[in-house]
Amino acid sequence: MQTSRRGLSYRDIGTGIPIVWVHGFPLNGGIFDAQGSIRGARHIMPDLRGFGSTPPSGTELTVDDYARDVLDLADELAIERAVFAGLSMGGYVVFAIARHAPRRFLGAILLDTRETADADAAREQRYKLAARVRENGVAVLADEMLPKLLSRQTHERNAPLVERVRDIVMQTSTDGAVAALHALAQRPDSSVTLSQLPVPTAIVVGKDDVITPPADAERMLRLSPHASIHVIEDGGHLANMENPAAVNADIEEFVSSLQ
Ligand code: MLT
Repeated sequence: MQTSRRGLSYRDIGTGIPIVWVHGFPLNGGIFDAQGSIRGARHIMPDLRGFGSTPPSGTELTVDDYARDVLDLADELAIERAVFAGLSMGGYVVFAIARHAPRRFLGAILLDTRETADADAAREQRYKLAARVRENGVAVLADEMLPKLLSRQTHERNAPLVERVRDIVMQTSTDGAVAALHALAQRPDSSVTLSQLPVPTAIVVGKDDVITPPADAERMLRLSPHASIHVIEDGGHLANMENPAAVNADIEEFVSSLQ
C-alpha cells in the first residue's frame, strides 16, 4: 500500500493501460484483489476517504469530493488518461469524474451500478441508516448489506468469500460510512453523463445482483452510445469477487480492444 499526497491509500500494480478501480460502499480497494491479475494493464486501486486504510475526512461528502481525490491521485501518478472502472458507488464516482474531466477517459467500466439518483424514499432510508451507523458502528452495515452484496449461491457455497467481504466492510470507519451515505443520498442523476461518455464502455453485471440488477445494466446500455454488456453467471452485486474468471476474461478482452 502507498499513500497519496491527499492521504489516499492505494495500490499500483502491473504495467500497461492504466485502469483506476473505484470501489463500492461500504467496501475498499480490496474487493478488486482478483482484478490485479488482468494482463496488459496497470491497476490503480485506491481506498476512498474513510474506507479501508484511508482515514476519514469530512462529514458530509459528495461524489464530487471522491472524484477529485481520484483525479488528484491520477495527477500525482502522471496518468493523463485512464480507463475508469467503478463498482456500484464507484460507478457513481466515475460518473462524477466524467462530468469533471471527460477527456481523461480512455474507456469506462461500469460494474454492478446504475445511472439514476435515489428516489425520495431511498434517500430517507440512507439518512436513517447513517443515524444507526453513527449510534452502533459499521457492524450495522455488515448485518444489513452482506445478504444483498453476494448472491444466494455464494452465501450457500463460498463461506470464505462471505467472511472476506464481512472483513472488508468492518474495515470501514464510522465517520467514513456516514459521510458516504450522505454522498449516496445526494448524488445526481447521471443519465446525460452516461449518454455523452465519449469512450468505449463495458457494462458488467452479476446475473443475480439484487442491488443493481441486470435490468439497470440494460437500461444503461440503451443510454450509452459506445457500450457493451457483460452479464456474469454465478455472480451477485460483487460479481468481480464471486466469479473473477468470467469478469477478468471480459475485461481483458475489453482492455485489449482499446490498444
Ligand atoms: C454499493 O455497493 O456501492 C452500494 O450498494 C450502492 C448503493 O447503495 O446505491
